[in-house]
Amino acid sequence: MMQPQNIKVASVSEHPSPLIVATWSFSARGCRKAFQDLTTGSSALDAVCSVAREAEADPTIDSVGFGGLPDATGKVTLDAAVMIAPERCGAACAVARHLFVTDLARKVMERTSHVMLAGEGADAFADAMDMPSTDLLSPAAAQAWRRWRVGEPIGRPVDAGPSSGQLFSSHAASARAHAPARHPMERETPHDTVGVLAIDRARALAGACSTSGMPFKLAGRVGDSSIIGHGLYVDPEAGGAVATGSGEMVMGVNGSFLAVECMRRGATPSEAVHEVLARIERRFRPQSHQQVALIALSRTGEWSAGALRSGFIVSCAQASGTEMLQPQFVMHPEEAVDGPHPADAGGKS
Ligand code: GLY
Repeated sequence: MMQPQNIKVASVSEHPSPLIVATWSFSARGCRKAFQDLTTGSSALDAVCSVAREAEADPTIDSVGFGGLPDATGKVTLDAAVMIAPERCGAACAVARHLFVTDLARKVMERTSHVMLAGEGADAFADAMDMPSTDLLSPAAAQAWRRWRVGEPIGRPVDAGPSSGQLFSSHAASARAHAPARHPMERETPHDTVGVLAIDRARALAGACSTSGMPFKLAGRVGDSSIIGHGLYVDPEAGGAVATGSGEMVMGVNGSFLAVECMRRGATPSEAVHEVLARIERRFRPQSHQQVALIALSRTGEWSAGALRSGFIVSCAQASGTEMLQPQFVMHPEEAVDGPHPADAGGKS
């Protein structure tokens, strides 16, 4: 795995030519490979799927694909989405038997009249598309789950639970007043969606998102990544955005859609990301263990990234090379999300 050494700060692209930007340092290898294809004429959609596929197959990433941490019952379920335009998007969520869930989302877009398939129906559709089925639970993830179940440390910080976190609480105060007591299995730890945006030689935009979701989530929980407008949004008339981090907060503000709408109204990518994060701060008052980060890409190839807290890294592949970059701004630079991500030691110090 490439380590984010000599990290520079992200800046607006000087190259309105092919470009791939993706969340987290673990995407750098995939970005570099996909960029080579992009320069020889492959599409932005191929590029974003390729980067996501690379992360899905990497067992060292515990938040995406094989290697992803399971839900509270020990079952891994995957969520993904792809998008090139409002009328061209696809998604699959709660997929339990197929690894390449971004490719599955693309098939939903290309081979059905629907936008999203869920659960058993999504797996059945993948079978019908001759996608190989597989066991998604890696030995390391199974071990982490067994340790989590008995309350042992697993190498990632585990939130104290009932009194903290905002799981399922987009409108925390009113929701708590009406909701039953928090399920004892509800815990939140940092988790890291792969979100990818690309622009190709034909100036077409594409985006993809893939995740195993919140570690040890309640069975049935689906976060922002597979929901169009939340974890991902792309409109060739305005730009694209992807989000990573605590999905419930992103969902509460339609984070990616909001970023793209800000750009449509004239905001720079940086201003757009800032607006989303500021709104999340205002509404949710995130706690120190909660991270949200976004990348926004304008239709002219300018991009920016921002995060609530330090530790977020952007992978970027363009003509000048592949780099791991600090986001352009961090709302609380003095605060890092507690503890390193085992797959991203350099990026979450
Ligand atoms: N951002 C991924 C999730 O919350 O599921």
